[in-house]
Formats: sequence, structure tokens, C-alpha cells
Amino acid sequence: MEVVIRPDVAEVDSVVADVVERVVRSGSCVLGLATGSSPVGTYRELARRHRENGLSFSGARAFLLDEYVGLPKDQEQSYFSFIRAEFVDHVDLDPAVVESPNGEASDIAAEAIRYDRAIAEGGGVDVQLLGIGTDGHIGFNEPGSSLRSRTRVKTLTEQTRADNARFFDAPDAVPHHVLTQGLGTILEAKHLILIATGESKADAVAAAVEGPLSAFCPASVIQWHQHVSVVVDEAAASKLA
Ligand code: F6R
Repeated sequence: MEVVIRPDVAEVDSVVADVVERVVRSGSCVLGLATGSSPVGTYRELARRHRENGLSFSGARAFLLDEYVGLPKDQEQSYFSFIRAEFVDHVDLDPAVVESPNGEASDIAAEAIRYDRAIAEGGGVDVQLLGIGTDGHIGFNEPGSSLRSRTRVKTLTEQTRADNARFFDAPDAVPHHVLTQGLGTILEAKHLILIATGESKADAVAAAVEGPLSAFCPASVIQWHQHVSVVVDEAAASKLA
């Protein structure tokens, strides 16, 4: 595992964008996209490189980490709409090759199996961007998640619902359930990049990087992976030994 500490968010975004750019320029590739605030600066930097330097995503396809259960795909707060608005609509990545778990599927268990299969049939994820929750989740694998879990439904903790309330009109509007890639699914990506900025992430980052490998901090599962980059600003790194 490499831990890259940068003085500020802009430099974190730039480091992560460099890695994604290398993968994208190497030819056809599969990107694993996280939503939430952490990767947004990276997406903006990639969009800038597309606009100004001709970085093309035409050979790429992408899989999202997760989706709310029961939220229509075209609703603003769905993760599919989020990734379109924050990234896909600003580059030449065909929306048709950006897949997300279908949180509206009538058979959610079958959808979870289908999604894992689609990732595998797509050749697997080359580079997976990850944020981290204040409770140590990655994807929406909340504390207690099985370390080998596959894509499935998870119930969000009240902490995570409160953290995500800023994206909704009212705290009660945050769904209770998500369809998320499992920890075992995430570990199959070839390269994991965990992005964290700000002091509110410092405890979770320290637990993920230096704590025991434990389901109590699901992000600690990255210690098992052979190719991980943790890219953080000084505030998020402040509790590392
Ligand atoms: C989002 C996701 C979550 C977020 C995490 C951090 O697709 O999988 O694990 O990355 O909740 O969210 P932010 O970045 O908003 O602090």
C-alpha cells in the first residue's frame, strides 16, 4: 500500500487524476467510479484535461460502486444521475457504457448477482476510486460487513444517512437501503485508490490504514489488496502514526 499525503484537496485531485489518466491513455479500460464528495474534484480535473488536453474516455467503460434502493435512476439524488452530472456529461464517455446497480429492480437479489457478473464479464475494474465514510465504510459496506461480501442490499447506518442528508431536501428523504458492491467485489479491482480529505475522515483513514483488519472498519480490507493507493490531504492524514 502506498499512502500519498498532499497539502490540499487540489493536489489530491491532481494525483488521482494522473493515475486515472494513465489508465485511460493505455487503451480500453474499465473505471470503477465512486460518488459522494470525495472524488468530485478528481472528476472536475479529468473533465478539464478532456476539454483542454484532449484526454479521451471513448475507449473506457465504467461501473458505479452503489445505488440507492427505490430511487428512480433519473432522480437527481440517484448515484447514476450524480455521476452523469458530475463527470460523464463533461467528457466523451458514452453514458450507455456506464453501469450502475439497478436499485429499482423488482428482484433485488437477482440484480445483485447480475451486477457482479456484468463487472466480471466486462473484464473487471482496472482502477477503482473509493471514498471512505466517517464510520469506515467503502461502497456502502457498513461496519459489520463480511470481508468477502458480494454485491447486495445493505441498510445504511443513521450516521451515514445523516452524512448524506446534505444531498437531499430533508434528512428523512435519505433512503434506508442501498445496493452496493461487496468488499469481495471491490477487492477484485486491479488498483484501488482511496481518496479522503478533511479532518472528519482522519479517524476512519487511520483505522483503515493502520488499524487491525476488521469488519468493524470495512475499509481496512484494503490492507489485503496488492495494489492500493491512499491519497489524502494533510487533514485526513492527521491521525496516521
Ligand atoms: C459513494 C460511496 C461511499 C462514499 C462515502 C464517502 O459511491 O461508495 O462509500 O464514498 O460515503 O462520501 P463522501 O465522499 O461524500 O464523504
